[in-house]
Amino acid sequence: MPFFAGMIQHKKILITGGAGFIGSNLCEKFLAQNNEVVCLDNLSTGLSQNIEPYLANPRFKWLEGDIRSLNLCIEAAKGVDMICHQAALGSVPRSVANPLPSHEHNVTGFLNILEAAKANAVRRVVYASSSSVYGDAPELPKREEKIGLPLSPYAVTKLADELYAHVFGALYPLELIGLRYFNVFGKKQRPDGPYAAVIPKFIALMLAGQAPEIHGDGSQSRDFTHINNVLKANELALETQNPLAYNTVYNVACGSNTTVLELFEGIKTLLAPDYPHIAAMQPCFVPKRAGDVAHSLASIERAENLLGYEPTHDFEQGLTEAIAWYKKHHS
Ligand SMILES: NC(=O)c1ccc[n+]([C@@H]2O[C@H](COP(=O)([O-])OP(=O)(O)OC[C@H]3O[C@@H](n4cnc5c(N)ncnc54)[C@H](O)[C@@H]3O)[C@@H](O)[C@H]2O)c1
Repeated sequence: MPFFAGMIQHKKILITGGAGFIGSNLCEKFLAQNNEVVCLDNLSTGLSQNIEPYLANPRFKWLEGDIRSLNLCIEAAKGVDMICHQAALGSVPRSVANPLPSHEHNVTGFLNILEAAKANAVRRVVYASSSSVYGDAPELPKREEKIGLPLSPYAVTKLADELYAHVFGALYPLELIGLRYFNVFGKKQRPDGPYAAVIPKFIALMLAGQAPEIHGDGSQSRDFTHINNVLKANELALETQNPLAYNTVYNVACGSNTTVLELFEGIKTLLAPDYPHIAAMQPCFVPKRAGDVAHSLASIERAENLLGYEPTHDFEQGLTEAIAWYKKHHS
């Protein structure tokens, strides 16, 4: 189909949050495809080791700085062909504990990026939204047009971003595409800290011989999405020439869900052959967390139809690859 693009090559791409989990995987992919990458990150949750391998690459420009500075955003976006915006303070519980920084990084920072795109006439901006915008909507699977009320300050920030993108897309010559990621996992995702995501946290704890904690009874489910699916969705969104595909949002997921208990069992099964102490491990059940949704499962039809997206990795294949990476880097 003519609208569905192939590979991005020979472009100059600003990646915000490029030292983070998703951003650094995007840097790696786009550099490998002969693009120039400008990476803007304040290293608040990202790691300098994530971008170290690229520092000597003449097609990589490292800008340590903060998207809360409008001037810096405008400077960073000078001469780029497109913007791939990942910088934000992730984590629902972090935003529940401390809403103000989430607002400043995620909303003010995003508005600055939109202003920077406008100021530099960079039409295409692809930005990270989140499945959290579905909030209290009970319908499964989640379809883009039907959201509920947000359940956390983090969800409010991502919804505010989508609303700003909607208005900027209508008022200015911009092509804005929001990607609602569903629980992304894979290499380079941090397992440490109080706000670590469930998959790296479980793997690292189990490798260290510690039983992970499950909030509630473990029946809560998520559409766990391997990083390679997210990389592909970003590429398709940055490249698409389909005018119907702009100024809208897409679920980026696998389209299947797994409970947290099944996740624990899956990790156990994959680790036990090499780590016999894990075979008998049982999780610790602790009270449910405020702000968490019970179930999350995406319809990926819109991304399939308008972007030509299809998952490259299902949950099992993704988990197998992620575990291989953590065994090498965290055991
Ligand atoms: N990982 C997921 O499951 C998931 C799910 C839904 C949405 N998202 C969104 O995807 C994006 C990337 O998430 P991630 O998992 O890679 O998280 P991450 O924390 O690994 O990456 C975010 C990066 O942004 C940087 N950053 C934060 N605030 C900044 C600021 N003010 N200025 C400059 N840099 C800043 C951090 O240092 C970090 O490197 C975020 O927008 C997040 O909200 C992630």
